[in-house]
Amino acid sequence: MSGDARMTQMAWQGVARGGDGQPAWSGASAAAIAAESPREDAQAAQAHARQAGDVILDLQNISLSFGGVKALTDISFDVREHEIRAIIGPNGAGKSSMLNVINGVYHPQQGRIVFRGEERRKMHPTEAARQGIARTFQNIALFKGMTVLDNIMTGRNTKFRSGLLANALWWGPARNEETRHRRKVEEVIDFLEIQAIRKTPVGRLPYGLQKRVELARALAAEPSMLLLDEPMAGMNVEEKQDMCRFILDVNHQFGTTIVLIEHDMGVVMDISDRVVVLDYGKKIGDGTPDVVKANPDVIRAYLGAGH
Ligand SMILES: Nc1ncnc2c1ncn2[C@@H]1O[C@H](COP(=O)(O)OP(=O)(O)OP(=O)(O)O)[C@@H](O)[C@H]1O
Ligand SMILES: [Mg+2]
Repeated sequence: MSGDARMTQMAWQGVARGGDGQPAWSGASAAAIAAESPREDAQAAQAHARQAGDVILDLQNISLSFGGVKALTDISFDVREHEIRAIIGPNGAGKSSMLNVINGVYHPQQGRIVFRGEERRKMHPTEAARQGIARTFQNIALFKGMTVLDNIMTGRNTKFRSGLLANALWWGPARNEETRHRRKVEEVIDFLEIQAIRKTPVGRLPYGLQKRVELARALAAEPSMLLLDEPMAGMNVEEKQDMCRFILDVNHQFGTTIVLIEHDMGVVMDISDRVVVLDYGKKIGDGTPDVVKANPDVIRAYLGAGH
């Protein structure tokens, strides 16, 4: 079993039965992070005061199968602007497939996807990127031999306007454009506090920092919606706390809507506005963290019945 997979399983098992027979929804919690500094304390208060906006993504009756495997069955839920929307569920529940449907990697056999009022059945990932949807992957997808800076620069690809010839000749508009892109990339590097590793090849970095570089690449695209597939998997507690803080900062400072898959229930329950729960490709729960925590089907799935 890979380290990643093992961590996932451990985090899932970490939702242990509490003294009252209920799952203990604890972990490297955002509340603990907030308690560490007044800045984050203020942010936590802000999170509670924050009002999610209108529905910007509406997924209706989505079904997706691979041959005989039903990855998603008749799933409906929505995402509101500026919220942190978590997708949780046991291994193989269909969480990553759902993100792949949202950004056009998978095309569901059934269902409707309405994004910013426009219905779309099929969309190419580059089109999703152009519409402001960026993502990170469960298994880090970076160019290991390239520097941090160059990897983050690839996040700007969909924003290049100058033609190939102009770029090749480093001519007028292309030159200005490159300067603009570099400035944005440097802003992201400062924001995520990775100045010290900007020239380091990604393959030489520890796992936790590679995950942060992947987030940087997604942010370089200036997304309005960020899809994060297990951004904290395989991290130690300190790295998780850092990642949690960055996710909250992105959400608060840029108003970015975040769809988050995460196995650490402490984190999910602390930072999410709403949570959708999948199990065996079906939706078994949906609502605020408190509502979801009290849902008998969710409790059953988490306490291991049938798993
Ligand atoms: N490209 C694919 N081809 C065939 N089957 C797939 C493919 N992608 C996903 N599946 C299957 O769909 C189901 C859901 O997988 P998915 O990766 O979405 O689950 P998950 O909830 O993200 O799990 P995990 O927590 O382990 O990441 C699984 O049975 C998986 O084997
Ligand atoms: Mg997954």
